[in-house]
Amino acid sequence: MKSPTELPAAVPYLDLPAQMRAIRKDIDAAIGRTLDNCSFCLGPDVGQFEKDFARFCGAEHCVAFNSGTSALHIAMRLLNIGPGDEVITTPYTFVATSWAISYVGAKPVFVDAEDATFNLDPKLIERAITPRTKAVMPVHLYGHPFEVDPILAICRQHNLPLVEDTAQAHGAKYRGKVVGTFGAMSCFSFYPGKNLGAYGEGGGLVTNNAAYAARARSLREHGSTQRYYHDEVGYNYRMEGIQGAVLGVKLKHLDAWTRERRRVAHRYHELLAGTPLQLPGEADYAESAYHLYVVRHPRRDELKKHLEANKVGCALHYPVSLHLQKCYADLGYKAGDFPVAEKAARECLSLPIYPELTEAQIQRVAAVVQGFFQA
Ligand SMILES: Cc1ncc(COP(=O)(O)O)c(C=O)c1O
Repeated sequence: MKSPTELPAAVPYLDLPAQMRAIRKDIDAAIGRTLDNCSFCLGPDVGQFEKDFARFCGAEHCVAFNSGTSALHIAMRLLNIGPGDEVITTPYTFVATSWAISYVGAKPVFVDAEDATFNLDPKLIERAITPRTKAVMPVHLYGHPFEVDPILAICRQHNLPLVEDTAQAHGAKYRGKVVGTFGAMSCFSFYPGKNLGAYGEGGGLVTNNAAYAARARSLREHGSTQRYYHDEVGYNYRMEGIQGAVLGVKLKHLDAWTRERRRVAHRYHELLAGTPLQLPGEADYAESAYHLYVVRHPRRDELKKHLEANKVGCALHYPVSLHLQKCYADLGYKAGDFPVAEKAARECLSLPIYPELTEAQIQRVAAVVQGFFQA
């Protein structure tokens, strides 16, 4: 262990420049190529990235979008979900998961999370199914896979498609298999802070179903397969050429970056084991991609202030469960409806985690956390 004077004074919550420095030459070359061939919307680099990312997931198809939110929206369109329909999902996620349901005029039906992983609780799904239910959409939250097998079994039994929100879980594994091909389709985000992040917005829809992939390509391009002929109401959801070029460079590093994230997580596990914090565990079926390292404690707000006062970055994912958000007041949920999600929203705190985090930075974070409990 390093002495306190050897540790860095500040640890940022995220450090995108650190990652960019290591790959800058390749990025410049890739962006230069896009500029040279002026393929700004979709184009060859996006097409190549789609192939490479599908292979990475072990899937037949990847359709690139201008955001993860757009990909989720299209997932709902592909399943022909609309007004009067219901989709079962988790209230403990980023709001974009349920936006997709709302965008098509359907109703998000929330089911509480399970305490150990904060993922949709398989035991609670069946009682939420009604004749209006059209899909189940759990999230591999924080990069930790949800429990796929029991959820798939329920979906099969009720003839419901499973949509995986994989926005936070690039390369995470469920029982040894990369997540994203268990359901009818999965939706990734390539937002800059994600495990695989663009230099702008980006998203992807991954599927083994050729008909879904073809319709997704049409829907992202104004509902057309032939220019100026529009088969159905579509969108401008195309990925930009530059993002395809950047993601193509970064994808080559993703496995190594995930290993580094796991190194950081395991060091936190060791260094924080003696504190009263509840640390993120890995279920026996899971290999987490550690998009986030989320600890839990009833004095979360005080701990957050202490970390910030000591220049250690931290964040809340998420401070309010979706069923209590103002935008969803009309759904009629109230405090107490989802106790696990509500408790998580009060107690969860995300510590810095990224592949470039050094041993000294990790020790600094741990020392500041330990200092809080010793005071
Ligand atoms: C769980 C989850 N779903 C969906 C999204 C939406 O992705 P994007 O920000 O790329 O639209 C995000 C990311 O922000 C997310 O974390």
